[in-house]
Amino acid sequence: MRWRCVPAVALFALGASAAVAQPVSAEEVPYVRTPQAVVDKMLDLAEIGVDDFLIDLGSGDGRIVITAAQQRGARGFGVELDASLVEASNEAARMAGVAARAQFFERDLFDTDIREASVLTMYLLPSVNLLLRPRLLAELRPGTRVVSHDWDMGEWQPDAKVVLQGQAKPVMPMKTSTVYLWIVPARVAGTWNLQVEGAAGQESIAIEFTQRFQEIAGVAARARGRTLLQSAHLRGPEIRFALIDETRRPSEPLHFFGRVYGDTMEGTVMEGATAKGSRWRALRGG
Ligand SMILES: C[S@@+](CC[C@H](N)C(=O)[O-])C[C@H]1O[C@@H](n2cnc3c(N)ncnc32)[C@H](O)[C@@H]1O
Repeated sequence: MRWRCVPAVALFALGASAAVAQPVSAEEVPYVRTPQAVVDKMLDLAEIGVDDFLIDLGSGDGRIVITAAQQRGARGFGVELDASLVEASNEAARMAGVAARAQFFERDLFDTDIREASVLTMYLLPSVNLLLRPRLLAELRPGTRVVSHDWDMGEWQPDAKVVLQGQAKPVMPMKTSTVYLWIVPARVAGTWNLQVEGAAGQESIAIEFTQRFQEIAGVAARARGRTLLQSAHLRGPEIRFALIDETRRPSEPLHFFGRVYGDTMEGTVMEGATAKGSRWRALRGG
């Protein structure tokens, strides 16, 4: 499949607000360095630390991975099409004393295995972000932080966004940089069979979640009668929601807090503000 070509430098020059997302060929993404203050903000927003593995897609002179290794103790690699930039990045990593933790490969980002990343960074183009979006959602572990300089992900709303003023970039007329953060959500859409275990015995509840990126909603069916599912919230693998027994008025909501592990989710239940001491577990249904 061929993509419609848009002169990428022209798109960079338009700035984020005027850019229209449409697929382009990946080799058109020009080399423009992220200013160091913006690199620092990207790493801050990702809350990157020693346990993280960073992958920078289109790594330019390597500054994002090298900064993460040198200043935050993270490990990672960058991939870049331009062989001279790859060589310069590996040399810069050696000079910075982080060559064992920051590596650079001459590789197409579309052929790069991204599953190892706990943090993924990019400064590409809006259309390239949209091409990558399905892979990010399908291949990255829930909770992985995705950070993009200047370009968003279309309808996938960011979990955080910061605008920095006074950032000079060679092809941008505006001196602003926007940094976006997304937390890859667990996949919860579908039917779940939930069991609550408590002093009063076991109860089974059937739940159907709908999901659009990190936005979730649900309906619950409970043997004891009409039940409302409210306040459903997902952040990476962390989920919470409340069930309200509509047959008992007034009734304290049951607050469920838990974590999604593939086809299982589990956690604890609170009734109102008091711990009920109960655990819950849900399995994905057919
Ligand atoms: C805007 S620069 C960003 C460089 C660096 N990440 C930074 O923020 O300073 C984008 C880089 O992506 C590289 N690039 C473009 N298409 C690529 C592809 N398909 N695979 C790997 N790198 C690519 C370009 O050569 C360029 O160096």
